[in-house]
Amino acid sequence: MLETFRSTVQFRKFELDPVERRLRGAVNVDDLRRIAKRRLPRGIFDYIDGAADDERTMSRNAAAFAEIEFCPNVLRDVSQIDTSTTLLGRRIPVPLVLAPTGYTRITHSDGELSVARAAARAGVPYSLSTMGTRSIEEVAAVSDGPKWFQVYMWKDRGLVKELVERSAAAGYEALWLTVDTAVLGNRERDARRGFTIPPKVGPGTILDGIVHPAWTWDLITHEPMDFANVRHVAATQEGSNMGRGSYVMSNWDQRMSWDHVEWLQGVWSGPIVLKGIQTVADAERAIAAGVQGIGLSNHGGRQLDDAPTPLELVEPVAQVVQGRAAIICDGGVRRGSDVVKALALGADACSIGRAYLYGAAAGGERGVDHVLRILRDGIERTMALCGRTAITELDRGLVRRR
Ligand SMILES: Cc1cc2nc3c(=O)[nH]c(=O)nc-3n(C[C@H](O)[C@H](O)[C@H](O)COP(=O)(O)O)c2cc1C
Repeated sequence: MLETFRSTVQFRKFELDPVERRLRGAVNVDDLRRIAKRRLPRGIFDYIDGAADDERTMSRNAAAFAEIEFCPNVLRDVSQIDTSTTLLGRRIPVPLVLAPTGYTRITHSDGELSVARAAARAGVPYSLSTMGTRSIEEVAAVSDGPKWFQVYMWKDRGLVKELVERSAAAGYEALWLTVDTAVLGNRERDARRGFTIPPKVGPGTILDGIVHPAWTWDLITHEPMDFANVRHVAATQEGSNMGRGSYVMSNWDQRMSWDHVEWLQGVWSGPIVLKGIQTVADAERAIAAGVQGIGLSNHGGRQLDDAPTPLELVEPVAQVVQGRAAIICDGGVRRGSDVVKALALGADACSIGRAYLYGAAAGGERGVDHVLRILRDGIERTMALCGRTAITELDRGLVRRR
């Protein structure tokens, strides 16, 4: 009996390292999401996982990928697959960008630093959010990979200019200008759990922390969090570190218009990607304004509910853009095959937000490496199964609407 057993199966080596053990069981982004849900207090998980109103935009962002199917070609030599591409003038090994996320350190004490290091290892751009918990300079010190910085248009234009100049000095290569946040979206999970700015805690929050001891221990044994990029400005305000964030939020300029894009072009000489373009008309306007990148995005569904899904915009936008700017499809990307679909429809790259946050929550820096590996392998495998060996071969003929 033992012989028969031995001839059919092999024992897996027991993994002593708990992080490796956890990650080994996660074969896709959904698995990492499930681990993140288990490890994070509910309020923290909901901050990452949640979206605005009824969260329909968020669901549709991901569901849109399932509406596209492949028309694969077989009997092609796919022994060598090249997933590299050029984005904003820089050669990158896979058509992926890590999108900016505020408060990244809430997932894991290393936060932005670990995500930036993992991105650098994978050779893909890491985007630091203005609302990051590590500064422009702190991130630059740990990453010699491609880095982008994300800005909002604040009433205090001097502060925006300062951030832009600091990004240039620290070697950041491109700017995202987020244009879909005239006001903050109605994130009901956050409101219910007190995950507001400043955060409001009650007995439920404390209990939540107690039943997630690993996360809580990690938080309290590391230095306090703050909005590191605007530390010096926020320090002039009353209140807790994160509480001072309300000053930053009150600085959002609701008068923001196309004139401000021009203003930004005057203070930054590198590429600018508008993050939050949601119509073909605005994409055309962006081209007329002379930006280098169009970020098709609805903020992962965190702003306007029932907004258009980025994937559905890719093709019509690509038709008007005609290669004059890079098109980045942002929202709902969970698999390498999603990236291949977006590129076949006309995007130049995809950006990911929650996917890497789930990875960070599940396994810190190694969790982010793991996500990037899953996505890269998925892109490569999909290309092989579709009979495509280079990114330039991902053309419209490869996909059709179901
Ligand atoms: C927790 C979290 C925080 C975010 N913070 C920012 C931010 O500070 N600035 C910004 O422009 N976008 C922010 N975003 C949006 C992401 O950059 C990106 O557009 C979105 O996550 C893409 O959707 P996905 O999560 O489905 O990949 C945030 C998203 C999440 C999930």
